[in-house]
Amino acid sequence: MNKIILGVSIFFMSMPAISADLAVGKSLSKQCAVCHGKDGISRHPETPNLAGLSALYIEKALVDYKKGSRHDRRMSLIAQSMSKDDMKNLGAWYAAFKLTVEVPQI
Ligand code: HEC
Repeated sequence: MNKIILGVSIFFMSMPAISADLAVGKSLSKQCAVCHGKDGISRHPETPNLAGLSALYIEKALVDYKKGSRHDRRMSLIAQSMSKDDMKNLGAWYAAFKLTVEVPQI
């Protein structure tokens, strides 16, 4: 019996928590592009890139802006109207971007 419970627990733990919808994330991201860039790479020095960040990090940042444990005059306002699903879908969308990194040679 314990083995079955353990097996089932491992199965659920290895599944991504409720799967996100990339198409919804893509559609929602149109309102982010003006600051974070259409490709998730920001052209404003004050605004961070979102492309390639982990979904978990993006979701947590958005939750924090909404709760008030992280504050920014723009993001705190934007996050207020976001649902948990919006945050999850946006996180999944930007996390799916593939980046190529070149480490400086010094
Ligand atoms: C008006 C400009 C603007 C818009 C529109 C905007 N952002 Fe931001 N965003 C910012 C700025 C500026 C920061 C940096 C704030 C800070 O210092 O905490 C930021 C930070 C973030 C961060 C934290 C990134 C990090 O590296 O910690 C996330 C995640 C984020 N934005 C997601 C979004 C999403 C998703 C949208 C669209 C729904 C969006 N933003 C729309 C300006 C914007």
